[in-house]
Amino acid sequence: MISEKLEKELNEQINAELFSSYLYLSMAAYSGSINMDGAAKWFQKQAQEELEHAMKFYHYLEERGGRVLLTAIKEPKKEWKTLEEAFKEAYEHEKYITGRINKLMDLAVAEKDYAAQSFLNWFVDEQVEEEASTLAIYEKLKMVRDYKGGLFMVDRELSQRG
Ligand code: FEO
Repeated sequence: MISEKLEKELNEQINAELFSSYLYLSMAAYSGSINMDGAAKWFQKQAQEELEHAMKFYHYLEERGGRVLLTAIKEPKKEWKTLEEAFKEAYEHEKYITGRINKLMDLAVAEKDYAAQSFLNWFVDEQVEEEASTLAIYEKLKMVRDYKGGLFMVDRELSQRG
């Protein structure tokens, strides 16, 4: 059985993952509004992945005898100045999520909850990927900043996300 403290923190993480999904869906809508359809598709896929992350926490909490308690999801930002700014913020957001995962791991270690540590390891690895992919796109967008043709090339590349 999971501790009350970890139960509370995992519930907060479900909310954080659902917010991530909401934020990326908002970035998808923004991207669509400026005709960056590849980026819109990329963010939609990302939003879907965040829902899957939330469900991983949901099922895990239930499996460990905890109670899932859903709370209000904060309204996401809706406008960005550029696609570059949106990806910069996506990268910043992933760093924030990594910090949260690390805190969850600290707690699992302090409580000697080996099962929770094993579960959280998947997210530790996933966050390396999440930070790397958002940073790589942000860096590319920075490179093509004043070159519209480059922007369309990056957008086409983003549309290829499977
Ligand atoms: Fe669920 Fe993008 O971290």
